[in-house]
Amino acid sequence: MAVYTLANMKGGVAKTTSVLMLGRVAAEQGKRVLLIDLDLNGQLSRLLGHWPAGQAGIFTDWYETHTLNDALTLLPAPGADFPLDGLTVEEKDLVERITAEARQYDLCLIDTPSGYMPFLRALLRVSDVWVTPTSLIPAVRQASAHYLLRMARLALAIDVHLKVRLLPVQYNPHLGSHRIGLEALRRFVGPWRVLPPVRHDGRFCYADPDGFRYAKNRPILQDYHHGFAALADASS
Ligand SMILES: Nc1ncnc2c1ncn2[C@@H]1O[C@H](COP(=O)(O)OP(=O)(O)OP(=O)(O)O)[C@@H](O)[C@H]1O
Ligand SMILES: [Mg+2]
Repeated sequence: MAVYTLANMKGGVAKTTSVLMLGRVAAEQGKRVLLIDLDLNGQLSRLLGHWPAGQAGIFTDWYETHTLNDALTLLPAPGADFPLDGLTVEEKDLVERITAEARQYDLCLIDTPSGYMPFLRALLRVSDVWVTPTSLIPAVRQASAHYLLRMARLALAIDVHLKVRLLPVQYNPHLGSHRIGLEALRRFVGPWRVLPPVRHDGRFCYADPDGFRYAKNRPILQDYHHGFAALADASS
């Protein structure tokens, strides 16, 4: 069992897209994969055609798992991180629940909301790898790199050992600063912490011919294959 959490305090950096694509790559390689949707916006569940009935609620609101195909399972839990009425997330309960679910799979990918949430500490405890997608726009890549290093420091402070990785996502195929952006990232966080970049195939589509429903854009699947391979043998 391996748990990868996709997180960034910056929104719209392809966290959800990357959860889907990495899950799909792993499933293609014969792994049994669990996708956990912890984002209150439920976008992952929605893209996969499962928006849980009932209201978004407190952290105890977990929904039934949905088998998507032989290898992929979705667990929608869009209220799981969201304290209401003065209730706070019980870190211990979140850790126990995720560990119990993930144990039944080869790989568990967790989608999170943007921001610094208290429950991220719990996710640090259950994760083997912390993956932070980032665009290569200077302000975003800088903030994302800071975020990644900050989470790495937090993990050390609470005596958690996990790998941290940046996943550069190139949104605009015509963006000339791609190479420069990558070099800057590698210098800043260390080359081994930067995954091979994901590019955009230059097309817009409203339905993925291979089964996933994308809102707009389509990243290159092959790039996620490279990213997944790099994650699988990440050793530092
Ligand atoms: N490689 C790419 N090139 C261009 N657009 C992309 C790429 N990857 C994802 N997108 C698009 O960027 C938008 C944001 O992606 P996504 O929802 O995965 O980000 P997110 O980090 O999960 O956002 P949020 O913070 O709202 O949860 C989506 O419309 C998605 O289709
Ligand atoms: Mg998202």
